[in-house]
Amino acid sequence: MKVAVFAGDGIGLEVTREAVRVLQALDLPGLTLMEGDVGGVAYKKHGHPLPEATLETARAADAILFGAVGDFDCDNLERHLRPEQAILGLRKAMGFFANLRPATVFKGLEDLTSLRPEVARQIDLLIVRELNGDVYFGEKGIRTLPDGRRQGWDIMSYAEDEVARIAHVAFKAAQGRRGKLCSVDKANVLETFQLWRDVMIEVSREYPDVELSHMYVDNAAMQLVKNPGQFDVIVTGNMFGDILSDQASMCVGSIGLLASASLAEGTCGLYEPIHGSAPDIAGKGLANPMATILSAAMMLRHSFGREAEAARIEAAVAKALADGIKGGDLGGSHGTAEIGDAVLARL
Ligand code: NAD
Ligand code: IPM
Ligand code: MN
Repeated sequence: MKVAVFAGDGIGLEVTREAVRVLQALDLPGLTLMEGDVGGVAYKKHGHPLPEATLETARAADAILFGAVGDFDCDNLERHLRPEQAILGLRKAMGFFANLRPATVFKGLEDLTSLRPEVARQIDLLIVRELNGDVYFGEKGIRTLPDGRRQGWDIMSYAEDEVARIAHVAFKAAQGRRGKLCSVDKANVLETFQLWRDVMIEVSREYPDVELSHMYVDNAAMQLVKNPGQFDVIVTGNMFGDILSDQASMCVGSIGLLASASLAEGTCGLYEPIHGSAPDIAGKGLANPMATILSAAMMLRHSFGREAEAARIEAAVAKALADGIKGGDLGGSHGTAEIGDAVLARL
C-alpha cells in the first residue's frame, strides 16, 4: 500500500495533513507514505509544476492522495508552467480518465445547504466525470486574426472510444446503485456531444437493467437545484462535470465536503477533494479537511479493497457532523486541526 501524498498549494497542505493523520490512525499493515512536490510550490522549488521526480513517485505508487494546486502568483506564467498543469498532467500521464464525485447530504446538515431542507434531504447522487478529454486537452492558443484582432481558441473533441469507456464506468456504477443513469450533454448545439449521446445509447444496449436518460447541461444545472433527488448517477464530459460538481457541493452544504476518486484501467487511482487551494483562507487553519479525509476513504475502497476501513472513516466524518463539528464553510467555528481531531476521536 504505497501512497504518494502530493499536498500542493494553499489549503492543500492543511487538508492533506489531516487526511494523513486519519490514515495513520488506522494502523494498516504495509501502508507507506511517499511525498512529492506539485503545483506552484513545485514550480518555485524546481521550475516545473509537475517535476519528473514527482511523476516517478506517482508511477511507483499504488495510489495518490492529492491536496490542491493553484497559486495566483503563477497565473501569468506560460500555461505549461502553471500550477494546474500538475493535476492535469497527472490525470493524463497516469490515464486517470474516470472521475467519481459522490454527493450525499449528511444528517444534521439538511438546514445548512443552499437549498430548502426538504429538497436537500433527497440528495444521493454520483457524478461520473470524464477526465482525460474534452476541451481541456484539445489544441488551444491565442492567435492574431488578419485584421489584427486577437482570438482565443480551444478545440473540443471526444473520440468514440473515449466516450464508451466512461460510459461503461457509469453504467456499472448505476448497476451498483439505484439503476438510473442520466447522461448530461449539449447535443443540441455541439457535434462533440451529439457523438457523446449516440455512443451512450449504443453502450446502453449492454446494460438493459440500467435506465438511461439524457439531459442538456443547462437544464441539468437547473434540475440539480430544483429536484436533485431525481438523480442517481450523472455521466458527463470533463468541463460540464467540473462545473456541475462544484454546484452539487453547495446542494449538500459545502465544497469542503466533496471527495473524488480518479481512476484508470488498473487499480492505481488519484484521490482528491474537488475544491482548489482556496487562497482566500490558506495558511489560517480554517479549511474544512473533510473532503480530503473522505477522499482517503475512497482510496481505501477503490485502490485497496478496504471497504471496512473506508466505511469507518465515512462514519466518523458523518458522526462529527451530526455532533455539530463544523468549519466556517458550514457556518461553524471549528478549525482544520480541530475537525481532524474530532474525526480521529470518532474513528
Ligand atoms: P477553490 O475551490 O479553491 O475555492 C472556492 C471557494 O471555496 C473559496 O472561497 C474557498 O475559500 C472555499 N473553499 C474551498 N475549499 C474549502 C475548504 N476545504 N474549506 C472551506 N472553504 C473552502 O476555487 P477557486 O478560488 O476558484 O480557485 C483557487 C485556486 O485553486 C485556483 O488557482 C484554481 O485553479 C485552483 N483549483 C485547483 C483544484 C485542484 O487542485 N484540483 C481545484 C479547483 C481549483
Ligand atoms: C477540479 C479543478 C481542476 C479542473 C483545475 C484545477 C484544473 O477545478 O479538479 O475540479 O478543472 O479539473
Ligand atoms: Mn473544479
